[in-house]
Amino acid sequence: MIIFLSPILILATFATQFPEDFAWGTGIAAFQVEGAWNESGKGMSMWDYFQEFPGRIRNNYNAKVAADFYHRYPEDIELMKKLGIKHLRLSISWPRILPTGLIDSPNPEGVKFYRNLFGALLNAGITPYVTLYHWDLPQTFNNFTDKSTWLNKDIVFKFNDYADFCFKNFGDQVKFWITFNEIKVMAWVGYGTGLHAPGRCSPNFGSWCKEIGGGGNSSTEPYIVAHHAFLAHGYAVKTYREKYQKLQGGKIGMASSSTFALPYDNQNIDDINAAHRAVAFQFGWLTDPIAFGRYPEEMSSIITGNRLPNFTESESEMLKGSYDFLGFNYYTTQYAQHTGIPGINYISDPRIKTSAFNKTGNLIGPFTNSWWVNAYAPGFRDHLNWIKKRYNDPDIYILENGISCWGEHNASIETGLNDACRVNYVHEYIMSMIDAIVLDKIKVKGYFLWSLIDNFEWADGFDGKFGITYVDYAGNLTRTVKNSGYMYKALLEKLGSSSLEEVKQILPANLVDIGKARSK
Ligand SMILES: *[C@@H]1O[C@H](CO)[C@@H](O)[C@H](O)[C@H]1NC(C)=O
Ligand SMILES: *[C@@H]1O[C@H](CO)[C@@H](O)[C@H](O)[C@H]1NC(C)=O
Ligand SMILES: *[C@@H]1O[C@H](CO)[C@@H](O)[C@H](O)[C@H]1NC(C)=O
Ligand SMILES: *[C@@H]1O[C@H](CO)[C@@H](O)[C@H](O)[C@H]1NC(C)=O
Ligand SMILES: *[C@@H]1O[C@H](CO)[C@@H](O)[C@H](O)[C@H]1NC(C)=O
Ligand SMILES: *[C@@H]1O[C@H](CO)[C@@H](O)[C@H](O)[C@H]1NC(C)=O
Ligand SMILES: *[C@@H]1O[C@H](CO)[C@@H](O)[C@H](O)[C@H]1NC(C)=O
Repeated sequence: MIIFLSPILILATFATQFPEDFAWGTGIAAFQVEGAWNESGKGMSMWDYFQEFPGRIRNNYNAKVAADFYHRYPEDIELMKKLGIKHLRLSISWPRILPTGLIDSPNPEGVKFYRNLFGALLNAGITPYVTLYHWDLPQTFNNFTDKSTWLNKDIVFKFNDYADFCFKNFGDQVKFWITFNEIKVMAWVGYGTGLHAPGRCSPNFGSWCKEIGGGGNSSTEPYIVAHHAFLAHGYAVKTYREKYQKLQGGKIGMASSSTFALPYDNQNIDDINAAHRAVAFQFGWLTDPIAFGRYPEEMSSIITGNRLPNFTESESEMLKGSYDFLGFNYYTTQYAQHTGIPGINYISDPRIKTSAFNKTGNLIGPFTNSWWVNAYAPGFRDHLNWIKKRYNDPDIYILENGISCWGEHNASIETGLNDACRVNYVHEYIMSMIDAIVLDKIKVKGYFLWSLIDNFEWADGFDGKFGITYVDYAGNLTRTVKNSGYMYKALLEKLGSSSLEEVKQILPANLVDIGKARSK
């Protein structure tokens, strides 16, 4: 280290300091951590209902207790203080505060829970970033006998009422609002493959969809569901801007997940276009509506059979520019190969075949414990550039990024805590983002590492671990910081006190040691 010191000191006058006001944080979501599924007046959500069906969650796990965050959040706040993390992304459970989903019968204990939680965070110097909809729809709206859930346009106005209720009750404490998490997953996995609640799909996707969700149509419903979610976002933002924003002084946006794509054959112009189209079908699908008030041309020009809905002129006007920042969840990149074959649903409509390998057999990045993720850090910077270009250099918050390591779900606690894979990948991803900020001048304002603690990973149950903190699910839910947590702590401290050039010299394993020593 000594030999590196002197040239760095000489360079010090040119040294780059990472922006001081950057929001470094971690994330969690209500259903994934809270538990207390039937306590203190909470109503059922469609996930409470869905998880009762055998086989829908791996090992038939359920989230009735989850990490028991509902009771243990003071401990998790202490954990964040110890790690020096000053920003937390979390979500409100709609049925916890409105058990029937409707504002005419609120649950005061649910409201009190969130007021206490936000208050405790603020007292600890931690800023809450709050998602209104992280997939736990009130079960009262999940009744396929009357075609409800997100298929019924009525939900748009119910969501707006719920959002209004939240702004009114929590807006003095919460200054960053995220309307929706990952409309792509909510629409396609909930109504396309049926692997998530409400479990709707065409018969060829799975027989359970008839039993749980009353059927479905994977060709049409995902587009309808997303359409209603965009409108719900638009109305909620309008409500916030007209009634609350001036008084409360907050910001509002949406969290969009998207996989970046590279051409399967980098010499083939069709594959190069296919890679762009793959991203337009993801980030573009989720963001063109709220940026430009219409769907991407890449989609509307090739989706057959009038399956992609249209916005009316007034809806389009309302949606245009309906965000203060763009939220981006990045995990992975794939290769895209042009097929040219007209599609019948969201997955085949782009006329692309995706793969982890390219034409000459290059694996894009190591497989992880999530079947949908291969670790590929450079795609982060590339995707950020795609966003900057398409949306005229917006403010961006990275609202999720993280990894579930291969084999971690059934590893011993020692292996679980010594998560070298997460230490290295998360570090690599962050460096790729930092390059996007410093070299490409992309206006990324915050980064939320997913996740603060191991949690209930939807259909993967407790087998998809993303936490920088180990939770003893087999025992008494004790939290223990993993090496990745210490790495993050040390990295944030170094970025706050040293030049970027200096920070980039420190190996992730050394950051772990520094973080551990500083926590003694
Ligand atoms: C809540 O659910 C648990 C099982 O998870 C059950 O033991 C308990 O009786 C339920 N409480 C109420 C109030 O229904
Ligand atoms: C749908 O509503 C009817 C009538 O209220 C009720 O009997 C039924 O249990 C509900 N179905 C589900 C799946 O919640
Ligand atoms: C889905 O809807 C499309 C368009 O209305 C229709 O052609 C198709 O038969 C439907 N599929 C199923 C499984 O109901
Ligand atoms: C496959 O990826 C490797 C590594 O990036 C690259 O060198 C090679 O040119 C790619 N092959 C094709 C056909 O695109
Ligand atoms: C949407 O509008 C376009 C252009 O006016 C039209 O071609 C298309 O049929 C419309 N789609 C639907 C689902 O109405
Ligand atoms: C861990 O789980 C995988 C399947 O997910 C299984 O193949 C492997 O044998 C398990 N390992 C141990 C040590 O239990
Ligand atoms: C949780 O279990 C561990 C060992 O499995 C034990 O050391 C610890 O004291 C327990 N904590 C509580 C709060 O019961």
